[in-house]
This record gives sequence, structure tokens and C-alpha cells, in this order.
Amino acid sequence: MTPEVVDVRILVTGGTGQLGRPVVERLRAAGEEVRVLSRRPAPGVVPGDLRTGRGIDSALAGVDVVVHCATDFFGRETDFARTLAEAARWAGGPHLVYVSIVGVDRVPLGYYRSKLETEEFLAASGLPHTIQRATQFHALVRTLFAGASRLPVLPVPRLSFQPVDVRDVAERLADLALSDPAGRVPDFGGPEILAAAELAQAVAEASGRRRRIVPVSVPGETFRAYAGGGHLAPEHLDGTITFRQYLAGQADAGVLRYRAR
Ligand SMILES: NC(=O)c1ccc[n+]([C@@H]2O[C@H](COP(=O)([O-])OP(=O)(O)OC[C@H]3O[C@@H](n4cnc5c(N)ncnc54)[C@H](OP(=O)(O)O)[C@@H]3O)[C@@H](O)[C@H]2O)c1
Repeated sequence: MTPEVVDVRILVTGGTGQLGRPVVERLRAAGEEVRVLSRRPAPGVVPGDLRTGRGIDSALAGVDVVVHCATDFFGRETDFARTLAEAARWAGGPHLVYVSIVGVDRVPLGYYRSKLETEEFLAASGLPHTIQRATQFHALVRTLFAGASRLPVLPVPRLSFQPVDVRDVAERLADLALSDPAGRVPDFGGPEILAAAELAQAVAEASGRRRRIVPVSVPGETFRAYAGGGHLAPEHLDGTITFRQYLAGQADAGVLRYRAR
């Protein structure tokens, strides 16, 4: 008898975001049927809002897996998860794959606290789930040091980052989405841990300049947590795309270089 081929139907929340887009691409490239949730009507997306709950039940109807990449920078992320979990129960309990951040339990930031709360909520929800923490994305680190391409002297905090490429994280999430629920899985980090000064220099160089970078200490609990490496995963140098490779691939890197001449 030929084995029955079962298609996995997957919903990607935040599928229009910087991480969600490559997740959708990966899953589609693997032949999966993917729905993308967005608040904004557009061709090929399922309309829905995790803040109000509008459209969420229909978006989850018949799905086997939800890759939850939607996020809220104003602390409502746990409310998003509650809305999702309620709809998931009605939809028969699909596998929820949640992306979190390395150090949410060590760095005292409001956004991190809401992500930790969301992890705890999912862990206690009784729903099949997988939680993947990742280190900072390349784009965030590049934004932090964007001033490096403009200022003659740039003060940078005396700490390190382990930036990771969203394409690498997306590949991991796609694998997790097609695997059994695993609870919290090992952290996923970028391939290198680099001092902020070195990262700022790389951003400056991508714009065709060299800058005097001055490492400085910053007072406060949050800086101490970062300086202590609370956001790093040194045991997990998993990503393959380095920060400099990412910068070289940015469309506007050439424009900045041109302007600098
Ligand atoms: N950035 C980092 O360095 C980093 C590092 C590790 C982990 N992460 C995690 O990775 C995840 C993805 O981050 P990202 O940078 O890709 O985010 P992003 O680019 O800012 O995208 C956010 C997404 O959330 C969706 N969204 C926001 N509010 C919504 C709502 N009320 N209802 C439905 N969808 C909503 C948006 O969809 P529409 O606007 O189309 O509705 C958008 O696709 C987040 O959980 C983040 O914490 C980020």
C-alpha cells in the first residue's frame, strides 16, 4: 500500500516581518502550504490582528503548525499569545513555534520581560509548542551603529554582540516547524561574538569610512547585564552568515560608499 502523503498546513504570524519573510520562503521552498497573517490587506495574506483577535480563528482553521513571529514592542506580546492559544484550542491544538530572544531571563528590559512571560505562558498552556531563542539580528546591530558612518568619533558601549542572520534563524525555525513539538530548544546564536567597537568599525567601513571608535562604560543594571554577556550564547555559534557578509549584501552599502567619496 502507498503511504498517505499528508501536507502540513502552516500559518506564519509576522510573516511580513524581517524574520517571518525568510521563514515563509524556506517553508514554501520545502513544498509546504503556508498562510501569512498580517493586519494589512495584501495579496496572498490572511487578514488578522492579534491585538483585537479579528480574523485569528479563521486564520488558524485547519492549520497543523503556527510559526509565531509576530511581535509587539509595547509589551502586549503575552496578550498576542493568549489570543493565539485560544484560537489554537478551537483549531484542535496545532504545534506553536515561538521565537524568543537569548537572555530574556537575564537582561532587565520591558520587552524582554514580556517575551519571558510569553514563553512561560506557552509552556504552561498545555498546547504542543517549541520555543527557540535567538541572539540579536544583524539588522538591529547595524541600526545600533548606524552613526558610525556619519560621526567622526563614535562612543560605543564596552560590550559584545553575537549577531545572527535572519536567513539562518529562518532555516532553524522551518526545521522546527516540520518536527515534533520540543518545548524549549537550545539557543540559536550568530557565528561570531564581536566587540561593539569592532561591529561599529565594520558598519563604518561598509560606508567606505574609518572612524575613531571609543568604547565607554554605561551606568545601570541593563548595561551590566549586557556587559556580562547575558544576551550571548557562546556555546551556540550556529549561524553561517557573518556580520560583514551581511553588510556586504546590503543594497545601500554601495550607496553609502559612493556618498562617502
Ligand atoms: N530583532 C532582533 O534582533 C531579534 C532577535 C531575536 C529574536 N527576535 C524575535 O523575532 C521575532 C520577529 O522579529 P522581527 O524583527 O522579524 O519583527 P518585525 O520585522 O518588526 O515584524 C513584526 C511582525 O509582527 C506583525 N504584527 C505586529 N503587530 C501585529 C498584530 N497586532 N497582529 C498581527 N500581526 C502583528 C507584523 O505584521 P503586519 O505589520 O503585516 O501586520 C510584522 O510582520 C520577534 O518575536 C522578536 O522578538 C528578534
